[in-house]
Amino acid sequence: RHILLINGPNLNLLGRREPHIYGSTTLADVESHAASQASSLGITLETFQSNHEGAIVDRIQAAAGWGPSSSSTSSSASAGETQAVKKPTAIIINPGALTHTSVAVRDALLGVDIPFVEVHVSNVHAREAFRKHSYLSDKAVAVICGMGVYGYTAAVEFAARHMKVKEE
Ligand code: DQA
Repeated sequence: RHILLINGPNLNLLGRREPHIYGSTTLADVESHAASQASSLGITLETFQSNHEGAIVDRIQAAAGWGPSSSSTSSSASAGETQAVKKPTAIIINPGALTHTSVAVRDALLGVDIPFVEVHVSNVHAREAFRKHSYLSDKAVAVICGMGVYGYTAAVEFAARHMKVKEE
């Protein structure tokens, strides 16, 4: 099993932004904990964070070995070319605000046909009304919210041990 953990806009500020809502754990802590948790479960894990919707779409496509048809720079480091080494068996995604806005992220996840778990640190249902709607939840295998950063730990455990893996 191989997990891709994606964090969307502003999650690079985890631990610093609105700590009364999101807590004091940083994204670096979340990612390194997830990586060691994965290795103790005998699986591999990659992480990706971006504040840019298109970069997240590119990364999801790259997970399936696809990518933008023409990359602007030729040889080096374009997301579509370099990162699709290993197809994830599952994606864990906290899309941040893109949860509530992005048909493009939804379409990318459906396009690559990789099962995914949606994670939110906060309880999105106990906040502003616009956070109640998610463009992903009806297609997610599972949705976690309100557990704080423990939600990532729960998602990794679930994806590693309990989630059905698609046969290719
Ligand atoms: C979030 C909830 C979203 O509504 C918000 O825009 C975020 C973080 C969460 O983890 O609780 O950026 O996804």
